[in-house]
Amino acid sequence: MDEYNQKIFNEVVKLKPVLWQNPKKESSDKVLAALDIKFADIKEAEERLKRFAPLIKKLFPETGDGIIESPLVEIPAMKRELEKTAGRKIKGQLYLKCDSHLKIAGSIKARGGIYEVLKQAEKLALENGLLSVHDDYAKLAGEKFKKFFSQYKIVVGSTGNLGLSIGTMATALGFKVTVHMSRDAKEWKKKLLRSRGAEVVEHSEDYGKAVEEGRKQCQEDPRAYFIDDENSRDLFLGYSVAALRLAERLKEKGIVVDGDNPLYVYLPCGVGGAPGGITFGLKHVFRDYVHCYFVEPTHSPSMLLGLLTGKYNRIHVNDCGIDNVTEADGLAVGSPSALVSAMADKLVDGIYTIEDSKLFRLLAVLKDTENIKVEPSAAAGLLGPVIVDSGENAAHICWATGGLLLPDEIYRDMYAKGKP
Ligand SMILES: Cc1ncc(COP(=O)(O)O)c(C=O)c1O
Repeated sequence: MDEYNQKIFNEVVKLKPVLWQNPKKESSDKVLAALDIKFADIKEAEERLKRFAPLIKKLFPETGDGIIESPLVEIPAMKRELEKTAGRKIKGQLYLKCDSHLKIAGSIKARGGIYEVLKQAEKLALENGLLSVHDDYAKLAGEKFKKFFSQYKIVVGSTGNLGLSIGTMATALGFKVTVHMSRDAKEWKKKLLRSRGAEVVEHSEDYGKAVEEGRKQCQEDPRAYFIDDENSRDLFLGYSVAALRLAERLKEKGIVVDGDNPLYVYLPCGVGGAPGGITFGLKHVFRDYVHCYFVEPTHSPSMLLGLLTGKYNRIHVNDCGIDNVTEADGLAVGSPSALVSAMADKLVDGIYTIEDSKLFRLLAVLKDTENIKVEPSAAAGLLGPVIVDSGENAAHICWATGGLLLPDEIYRDMYAKGKP
């Protein structure tokens, strides 16, 4: 470890919030050219989601056109409040990407989770001669398909939101579903999932163990398919499609991204799949004009430790005496994804860590200023614009990653915790 990384490491193990600027970052062209996942793969994932839109529309009419997307909104009152508290100006405009309000599952994890379920359903139906890619996929909602899919099982390990996304889509198609939930998963998420027909297995250990159990279960069952949050290329690609859609939203709003108008994006990070996939997509679209920062709780800085030490997924926060206990349940991950840490090593602009008390504070301020409800994990990105020194004329996007389904009585307590 060089002197800079060592200094950051020393703070991280003392649970001090840090801002780490990645010293290994290289030009996006160079890094992306060396990866074996390409832009064409993102386009293929986007096309697949378009094929499935008629089915999603039929199963979940609340999505409107069957494309699961969320708004990008400007949050000027939040900006004023952040500036007042920090005693410094945010250069440029501040926006919130509201994946907190993504239809069907209410979190960023729906992007990857739902995509991988659909891809698996398509594969099975094509292999068995039940579907052609030119068909209207709405037919997959029929009883014949439900019966067909019920012979198969989808298994996943989760801190909550991935399980909720996968469980909701897979049970709607007729699959059997087992979700292995880590100790951090909130009771209301497990209850909701069970009510949607999934089997929920509760573990008293952390997320890594829940994933391991799911993986093991599938090895013994040829009809079971394991969705691997630590390594899955399909999950990663499902998240990356967000970048293409964000580019469209920015264009519609007349927000230019170029050398004079940089884009800064702040992404809450658990195992890294969601922020990693979105960063990968954004770097393809906006090259070095986009600056992507991941955010982790001070008690679960797994991606940061993986990159600082160069050990990637071969380190657990417990190895450094950190407990991996945080109210940001979606971010309570001890070891980062191998796939994403290798990719982020030279691509991510930086990582900052945040204390739980700050998450509650930001959650409450967002409610007071903009009347937007998010869960604690999702508030993590809101600090970025006041701690990262951006260029002038920047567009800052805080990625709000979950909250829609959070029961009001639980949210009220969280809000109260964030009030001074
Ligand atoms: C609300 C929320 N935000 C962010 C994340 C982070 O995503 P990832 O674990 O893919 O890094 C999660 C993960 O479950 C989440 O639930």
